[in-house]
Amino acid sequence: GTVVLAYSGGLDTSCILVWLKEQGYDVIAFLANIGQDEDFDEARKKAENLGAKKVFIEDLRAEFVEHFIWPAVQANAVYEDRYLLGTSLARPCISRSLVDVARREKAHFISHGATGKGNDQVRFELTSYALYPEVKAPWSMDANLMHISYESGILEDPKSHAPVDLYLMTKNPEEAPNAPDVLEITFRKGVPVKVTNLKDATSKDAALDIFLYLNEIGGRHGVGRIDIVENRFIGMKSRGIYETPGGTILLQAHLDIETFTMDKEVRRIKQGLSVKFSELVYNGFWYSPECDFVRHCIQKSQENVEGTVQLSVFKGQVYLLGRESPKSLYNEELVSMDKQGDYDPCDASGFIRINAVRLREYHRLQGLSSPK
Ligand code: ARG
Ligand code: SIN
Repeated sequence: GTVVLAYSGGLDTSCILVWLKEQGYDVIAFLANIGQDEDFDEARKKAENLGAKKVFIEDLRAEFVEHFIWPAVQANAVYEDRYLLGTSLARPCISRSLVDVARREKAHFISHGATGKGNDQVRFELTSYALYPEVKAPWSMDANLMHISYESGILEDPKSHAPVDLYLMTKNPEEAPNAPDVLEITFRKGVPVKVTNLKDATSKDAALDIFLYLNEIGGRHGVGRIDIVENRFIGMKSRGIYETPGGTILLQAHLDIETFTMDKEVRRIKQGLSVKFSELVYNGFWYSPECDFVRHCIQKSQENVEGTVQLSVFKGQVYLLGRESPKSLYNEELVSMDKQGDYDPCDASGFIRINAVRLREYHRLQGLSSPK
């Protein structure tokens, strides 16, 4: 039979390639370009030398940004309050393309290098079964244009500090430039459509270019490093270190323009959906009915998320400077402390007294039950 192997060019998947051949399979090596720093020509040669029958290298960078990162930006997707899901989002993108190749080549098997103890196994295999039910998956890496993650080895001891030279995408904030870059980011329907650097007038407007440029600026200023212990889907805790420079800038900018333009109650519901979305993506359920539904709702919430945010990127931080929008719900006249606007302060007294009813009852009861 023929097996399509998600090949990374690294040691693990090279061993798997050889092993699969030894088992009598025809091996097609599939390499996804999701913006990792890799010599693809070199990897192609390596796979061919190891005996791959065919090698497919697919450039998925624009698709990754537009179809996977942008929905996450719209959602403000963050797993367990800190992780921006750089690996989790890439897996369904890679798997979808892997399945395409398997179908095209009439391969009945798909293979990947993720260990049997992690999330990636679930994500690859779940997507494969969802999109290509006939397939069988016999049973790891992780850098892409969104982030680099570091796990295991010396990092497995959660109290050991990461070596200073571990990070590849971001500069140490202590060594970052002493002057900020000031950016203007324009959003339409909750996704960035233009970025301009006010310092040197650099400007980008294509999705991939925007994201790569934000990585460059975030990287230069050491933005987006985290060191966390997270809960894997399968019930164990793991320690991970991540750097997500562009994603971190976009999260801050999007949160700002969203709050500026979105109704308060819609925002609350959407916040709950964002947590749900992040868990689904983390757990490998991108291609599930519930994730489809949640993405749809989140997208609907983004119709008026439009406008421009100005921010400064400096020493590992993102500082919001200002925002403007044609769809803003902010009403300067209404909120002003100097003008009355269309608002009668007398209405406030009754409103406050009614809200106090519940609080008064709560404290009355506490007075009854707790010892004086
Ligand atoms: N823990 C992160 C996640 O589950 C990163 C996993 C990185 N994968 C890897 N094979 N090194 O999304
Ligand atoms: C792995 O390479 O499988 C471990 C990381 C993960 O999938 O959570």
